Amino acid sequence: MADALTFELDPAVGRELGDGVVRLWTDVSNAGGAVGFVPPVTPEDIRPEWVRHLVSMAEGKNRLLVGYDTEGRVAATAFFSYNTHRLMRHWVWLYTVMVAPRHQGKGYGRQLMRAVEDAARGFDGIDAIRLTCRDGTGADRFYASCGYKEVGRVPGMIRVAPGDDRDDITMLLTLG
Ligand SMILES: CC(C)(COP(=O)(O)OP(=O)(O)OC[C@H]1O[C@@H](n2cnc3c(N)ncnc32)[C@H](O)[C@@H]1OP(=O)(O)O)[C@@H](O)C(=O)NCCC(=O)NCCS
Repeated sequence: MADALTFELDPAVGRELGDGVVRLWTDVSNAGGAVGFVPPVTPEDIRPEWVRHLVSMAEGKNRLLVGYDTEGRVAATAFFSYNTHRLMRHWVWLYTVMVAPRHQGKGYGRQLMRAVEDAARGFDGIDAIRLTCRDGTGADRFYASCGYKEVGRVPGMIRVAPGDDRDDITMLLTLG
């Protein structure tokens, strides 16, 4: 059993957290993770995206769940996004789910998704967590092992590279 990560919802945002998230996002992207970028990337490529997230968090549209390893380093993240559509306010989007490459395969991803579920159960009026993932990465099997069900699939919506189009899979966890 791997050491447990320590999770924090809505962490205080400072230089250290920002550098940790940007480093994690860069490392995961360069290891081939499906988190919005195609390798190779540098922290400078990622930082503007982090800044956009900071703005959304400050506006209350997004929330960050961060996991720290036993050395106190940022080792995992998941972002929640609220819906603005008035008929869709009873569920949240989840995205940028990632575990540092050095820590993958140790059960931390499952810990992260449990912490995600616990956090969402504490959100006012939220009945479900919805996410999308890229076919061919195994992420759908990971989410399925955490209780999420495939509820939709749009063929070829993600162009990883010319000639490499992947299905966009939608998965859902209902919080009964
Ligand atoms: C996907 C990710 C979060 C999983 O984290 P992890 O710490 O490696 O996962 P765990 O060790 O907790 O594994 C949990 C279960 O999921 C399975 N699993 C994890 N990654 C998998 C993959 N890529 N393909 C298939 N199964 C996978 C594990 O085998 C394990 O199942 P088991 O308990 O039945 O053996 C991590 O690999 C990651 O950050 N990947 C890169 C980023 C990414 O692509 N995120 C998904 C965005 S949609």
